[in-house]
Amino acid sequence: MSTELADIEHVPETWTRDHLLDLESLTKEEITLILDTAVSFKHATDGCRRKVATLSGCTCANLFFENSTRTRASFSLAARRLGADTLEFSASGSSLSKGETFIDTARNIQAMNVDAMTVRHQTPGTPHLLAQQLECSVINAGDGPHEHPTQGLLDILTIREHREEIAGLTVALVGDIAHSRTARSNIWGLMKLGARVIVCGPSTLVSPQWQELGVEVAHDLDAILPRCDVLNLLRIQFERQFTRPFPSVREYALLYAMNRDRMSRAKDDILIMAPGPINRGVEITPDVADGPQSVILDQVTNGLAVRMAVLWLLCGKRK
Ligand code: CP
Repeated sequence: MSTELADIEHVPETWTRDHLLDLESLTKEEITLILDTAVSFKHATDGCRRKVATLSGCTCANLFFENSTRTRASFSLAARRLGADTLEFSASGSSLSKGETFIDTARNIQAMNVDAMTVRHQTPGTPHLLAQQLECSVINAGDGPHEHPTQGLLDILTIREHREEIAGLTVALVGDIAHSRTARSNIWGLMKLGARVIVCGPSTLVSPQWQELGVEVAHDLDAILPRCDVLNLLRIQFERQFTRPFPSVREYALLYAMNRDRMSRAKDDILIMAPGPINRGVEITPDVADGPQSVILDQVTNGLAVRMAVLWLLCGKRK
């Protein structure tokens, strides 16, 4: 098994990052350290149920300019599990409506002695801009369709828990690849750890250019299904689309939804994943989403562990 328990008393000297902005720029060793640290926190806290006071005295802020259930709640809970204070900011109801700029807003939040700022924004590169402007650590919680690094990490941790080794696995990302920040973070992380990645969906949502990242491009789910060890079913992001990329949701589901019939033609031990939220009946049928091969809720639990690890590595280094 590749997992080694990491030190959660002292941040290792090999961790030199001030921010977590993407998985594209992380090394295999840095990704592995975050995953091992997450496992250590799971061990030390009875599966993230108990507190450890590792970040006592720190303050972690959440700035969300897009809606979120899982990411926001788990970053907040992760900080509190580590003994840190949390500060919650939502664009709605804030003084942005009075003309305050985004950067001024972030600087004012930072002035409340914030150590780490987690940001979700619809514009790609926003966390990178904040990292240049602020002194606290910045964590990307999703920047438009660009990256969602902690989602990639929690997906990989979930696969590693069930398959131990990432190297040699075939992982298919199925669905709205064009608009998916989860796809990009999964691609960078999985490929660095040695997995073969297939991106699959309608040609309007999966262009041939994805091959330039080193992934296989496919449009026929039934053709690739027998080769897949893991399927990560990505949501159709209607809110980011200007034109409808397929004639009807029914037609999409017919060609790409993971359903009972497709399960019967997949590997017996295939892992069914989805970053959430899921559109039941569109990307996945309820019997598969709630079935024995589904690890969708394991992903959510691992999100808490990964976010504890990231906050600890960044804020612990500052301490
Ligand atoms: N997977 C994910 O990012 O979910 P939320 O949008 O609910 O945070």
